[in-house]
Amino acid sequence: MAQPTVFVTRLIPDRGLDLVKEACDAEIWEDELPPPYEVLLEKVADKEGLLSLLTDTVNAQLMDAAPNLKVISNYAVGFDNIEIEEATKRGLPVGNTPGVLTDTTADFAFAMIMATGRRIVEGADYVRAGKWKTWGPRLLAGQDIHGATLGIVGFGRIGQAVAKRAQGFDMRVVAYDIYPDHAAAEELGVEFVDDMDVVLRQADFLTVHTQLTDETYHLIGKRELQLMKPTAILVNTSRGPCVDPDALYRALRDGEIAYAGLDVTEPEPIDRDSPLLELDNCVVVPHIASASVATRGKMAEMAAQNLIAGVRGERLPTCVNPEVYG
Ligand code: DGY
Repeated sequence: MAQPTVFVTRLIPDRGLDLVKEACDAEIWEDELPPPYEVLLEKVADKEGLLSLLTDTVNAQLMDAAPNLKVISNYAVGFDNIEIEEATKRGLPVGNTPGVLTDTTADFAFAMIMATGRRIVEGADYVRAGKWKTWGPRLLAGQDIHGATLGIVGFGRIGQAVAKRAQGFDMRVVAYDIYPDHAAAEELGVEFVDDMDVVLRQADFLTVHTQLTDETYHLIGKRELQLMKPTAILVNTSRGPCVDPDALYRALRDGEIAYAGLDVTEPEPIDRDSPLLELDNCVVVPHIASASVATRGKMAEMAAQNLIAGVRGERLPTCVNPEVYG
């Protein structure tokens, strides 16, 4: 019997790819860079399944170009690259990979808190540049993590996992989310507040864990940065556009806040001539918060399972728009 046809937009780890190859007639895009949008349109035209990445735009036009499509499986927990309402209108289930990357991403957010607070990247650059002449009482003095106040904006799975790590560092944690989870806050010893400004004003370290939606676009902008302490450090491992990059640049340059650690940027990749890259008090890495070998493998397996279930007409194990099932 003919196998269902699918397009996989990048080489995901074998743990998922092998499942897809076994169950489907799979065309796999093997380049390092994502397929250009026009190519993606061509590739999906005759396919029943699409395994996409957060770098692929999956919009109404693409869905219309793929009349046989039965499922979109995104290799990510986030799904802001997909027009979910359009998928739902067409009865197309969309899968994502929640849960498996929570702890890995939280580990990384905490690593960023520590790297920026303790100026680790600056220190490594200093040594590489041959500037290390002696031990110095003022050399690269940073900020303590222990005893500091951690502000969390977006207190879902990942925000909560970061709060758990902060307990071990004796941090005071203040959190805000439009969807309060008072039970989790109580369990984790977190002060949950119903006004984001309180978090902004009190945080020594502010870590952002919101989804990207119309409401969270530039959630942290000029006004929010001005509310923060001049010694505060901002860490973003959510989505780049949740922070206004121009406002952030000015705030870092003018000393309105002290430091930023960005795993995500707007745009991605960041422009090579972005002024943020000229600042010593800004660390930028290429969207790697979930990039542990184990987690990327688990994400691949989940994305494959969603894809295979979808092309078989079965319910996706993790579906973003379960309303398609009525
Ligand atoms: C996601 O899954 O949404 C992350 O940003 C990529 O790891």
